[in-house]
Amino acid sequence: MLRGIVFFTDSSAHEDVTVFDTTLRDGEQTPGIAFTFEQKLEIARQLSDIGVHIIEAGFPASSTAEKETVTAIKKLGLESGICGLARSVKADVDACLDCDVDMVHVFIPTSDIQRENTINKTRTEVLEITADIIGHIRKHKELCMFSAMDATRTDWDYLIQVFQTAADAGATIINVPDTVGVISPSAMKTLVARINREVKCPIDVHCHNDFGLAVANTIAAVEAGASQVQVTVNGLGERAGNADLAQTVMIMESMYRIRTGIAKERLVETSHLISRFSGIAIPPTQPVVGENVFSHESGIHSHGVLRNSATFEPGIMTPEMVGHRRRLTLGKHVGRHAVRQMLADVHIAPTDEQLDAIIEKVKAIANRGKRVTDADLYEIAEGAMGTTLHQKVLSLQDIAIMTGNHVIPTASVRANVNDKEHVFSAVGNGPVDAALNAILGITPSKIQLREFNIEAISGGSDAICHVTIAVEDEHGKIFDASGSGDDIVLASVEALVNAINLVHRV
Ligand code: KIV
Ligand code: ZN
Repeated sequence: MLRGIVFFTDSSAHEDVTVFDTTLRDGEQTPGIAFTFEQKLEIARQLSDIGVHIIEAGFPASSTAEKETVTAIKKLGLESGICGLARSVKADVDACLDCDVDMVHVFIPTSDIQRENTINKTRTEVLEITADIIGHIRKHKELCMFSAMDATRTDWDYLIQVFQTAADAGATIINVPDTVGVISPSAMKTLVARINREVKCPIDVHCHNDFGLAVANTIAAVEAGASQVQVTVNGLGERAGNADLAQTVMIMESMYRIRTGIAKERLVETSHLISRFSGIAIPPTQPVVGENVFSHESGIHSHGVLRNSATFEPGIMTPEMVGHRRRLTLGKHVGRHAVRQMLADVHIAPTDEQLDAIIEKVKAIANRGKRVTDADLYEIAEGAMGTTLHQKVLSLQDIAIMTGNHVIPTASVRANVNDKEHVFSAVGNGPVDAALNAILGITPSKIQLREFNIEAISGGSDAICHVTIAVEDEHGKIFDASGSGDDIVLASVEALVNAINLVHRV
């Protein structure tokens, strides 16, 4: 039984909303993004696993490769319904049918500007085509979504006529796309409320983010009675992208108490997967999933959060809910409580004087614009307290890396682990990946790489780079450490070895 293929038919605002993800279709139209076949399959599996109701897997008529991908995704037998996109021509619809999709999503431009400049059809012709193509789809498929492209810039009286025609022809759901992202939340609410009143058909909404309003407009549509939202992971999509999945889901769940059925605790993991596949980094300030969302640096905030996390966090959204973590970060605004707590967490108890010296050093480093990692803090504490707080479990002896255009990047390491020599080789996507895999291969316990950031400190091909790594130990605790140098691979290896030694500190 596919999930989410039942649509609400009442006209009031809904308690439950279905989630239609278009990362693999509109998301892939993000300039510069092309997922591989294997990546698309993995994305589809992930979306289904987290509870997405319908996955728009692609636009089958656009190429043979796209058709093969949509077919392969459908053959995975996922719980999500699989949808294919089609222009309002029979050949496009037939390409979707060939892939055996569960739902055909057919669209036609309805605004004067798009109608006249793209398909060159009259308003009456658009109504005829709409009725015809939906009739064709419904002969073969139960589920048909109809989109009036550029709906928000379409004359609203005419738009109602288009949607009425679609509903009469058998569309199972009508979609209101804000194709160029120009509507405001209050106008969206008025528009969707009117469609909801006048057309007896479930409503879906598809918003673009040109003015940064995609999520707000999506929520406004839900307030007015839309029962399905179109989203993409990390807000990927044409131009400025589409409504972001994590934000839309969390606003509905936490602020409106609307159930989406999405496994919220997997939102961060899903965002990271798409970031890795798309090559588009998640800005630290990205709502819900960004690195800074539950990070606290300033003394006042950290102190408050240590007593009650809701003092400087939403409270109705916690890191645990979305699979994130709370962090007290070390920077120029850091306060005594935070530093004392971070050290206490690893059983380091400086005197008040030693703590002052540690804080002064941390602030001095942060003032130079450098990130202060956990490893830096412990090293600073060692200096200030005049002790060696831990011995290194892992010390690297040699590392050799082979890479090139016709070889699989391979790394071999020789290292002492608890004073015993170990040798290990591993391959990777590139020299850094191979080197890190080799180091992880000789690591005494299971450690997962959670973050990898690299920045060039100076310009030019001989630039000094600074690598910051975060790893997660077997108990889900995160440690970060850094490494620097003019060799990217060696700086990365240094950062990972430092992080591993932190995890295994004795
Ligand atoms: O933005 C848009 O109008 C679209 C349609 C195909 C729904 O992506
Ligand atoms: Zn779009």
